[in-house]
Amino acid sequence: MRILLYSGKGGVGKTSIAAATGVQLARRGYKTLVMSVDPAHSLADSFDLGGQLFHGATGEPTSVADRLWIQEVNIQREIKRHWQAISGYITSLLRTTGLGDVEAEEMAIFPGMEELSALMYVNQYRKTAEFDVVVLDCAPTAESLRFVSLPTTLDWYMKHVFSWERKLLKAIRPLANRLAPVEMPPEKYFDNVQDLFGKIEGIDTILEDSSITSVRLVTNAEKMVLRETQRAFVYFSLHGLTVDQVVVNRLFPADVQDAFFDNWRVTQGAVLAEIEAYFAPIPVSRVPLFRSEVLGFERLGILADTLYANGEDPALVTRTDRPYSFVRNDGQYQVRMHLPFAEKGEIGLFKKDDELVVEIGTLRRHIGLPTSMSQLIPSGARMDGDILVVEMRSA
Ligand SMILES: Nc1ncnc2c1ncn2[C@@H]1O[C@H](COP(=O)(O)OP(=O)(O)O)[C@@H](O)[C@H]1O
Ligand SMILES: [Mg+2]
Repeated sequence: MRILLYSGKGGVGKTSIAAATGVQLARRGYKTLVMSVDPAHSLADSFDLGGQLFHGATGEPTSVADRLWIQEVNIQREIKRHWQAISGYITSLLRTTGLGDVEAEEMAIFPGMEELSALMYVNQYRKTAEFDVVVLDCAPTAESLRFVSLPTTLDWYMKHVFSWERKLLKAIRPLANRLAPVEMPPEKYFDNVQDLFGKIEGIDTILEDSSITSVRLVTNAEKMVLRETQRAFVYFSLHGLTVDQVVVNRLFPADVQDAFFDNWRVTQGAVLAEIEAYFAPIPVSRVPLFRSEVLGFERLGILADTLYANGEDPALVTRTDRPYSFVRNDGQYQVRMHLPFAEKGEIGLFKKDDELVVEIGTLRRHIGLPTSMSQLIPSGARMDGDILVVEMRSA
């Protein structure tokens, strides 16, 4: 099963691009599920399915065309199904603070629940092989990063905190329940956590496997949007995911001649050039601004015709190398960069704000550093096969 993850800033067109990609995949014969992980779902709206504003029908895979299903993870339903004990405990805690029942239940939805539920589905579909491709329409960047970092965080929690916490609580619960101002979590709370963890086991390996999971960044040709896209790129790389395409959406078509848009056209051109330079060799696709909203199956089909103008197969694995990765080796930090086209010659390295700039011949690459490495400076570099290894040390 292939997993295609669409991420980007709010409003850039993630849902439309993900839905159009679903349409293209189904046309090419793949059994495809487009799944929305954004709590503010708009997938059903994108397909113009109608229905009530807050309907729950798409909480399960819903067929929208031949070989094409959509699903909008419905958190209330997921809680009933998977989170009973956890949310029951949290709700009871919140009630002791004087919150009413309904509010307490609403508040017991904590950050990460949606993402975790979606991860459980992805894992389940992979095991049952119900679909050939799952297209993930993610929430805006910050939340989609939580989505990909959740497995590692949970793994850490389970290893370092969970079993210890559970043992400790078992010992002290009788006493603590008499003394503590709030009730300690019951055993079934821990069973529930363990059970949920079991349901996402292995998903981190799946997300990091570039022959299974590809990240596609959707952006607009605007400075502010580009900045967020660059950060997303750095952090997806940091988490070991492979970005294999950048989609620039809403470009003004050449036939927009109105003087009002003159400046917009100039800046879009400049930012587009910047995008191409920054993300090379990752392919950059362009999608024009359409005359009206992209709504419904037919119009999504037209968007797909534009995005995949030569009938491309969106499920094709085109990039298997991570553009770069950050490693820590014996307390030493390294930036490792795949440079298949690097020529022999002087390698220039310098820091610019929190970016590492690497120059090889005429090739220049800006690498945004993660916060934990942003204070370091490059101390040397060498080629290891076609990998450029940059050693970083404290300034
Ligand atoms: N290329 C485009 N031309 C015209 N309208 C677009 C285009 N891409 C997206 N839209 C419209 O912009 C709005 C926001 O797009 P959406 O896909 O929901 O963005 P996101 O999921 O990133 O928040 C929707 O109404 C959609 O129909
Ligand atoms: Mg959306």
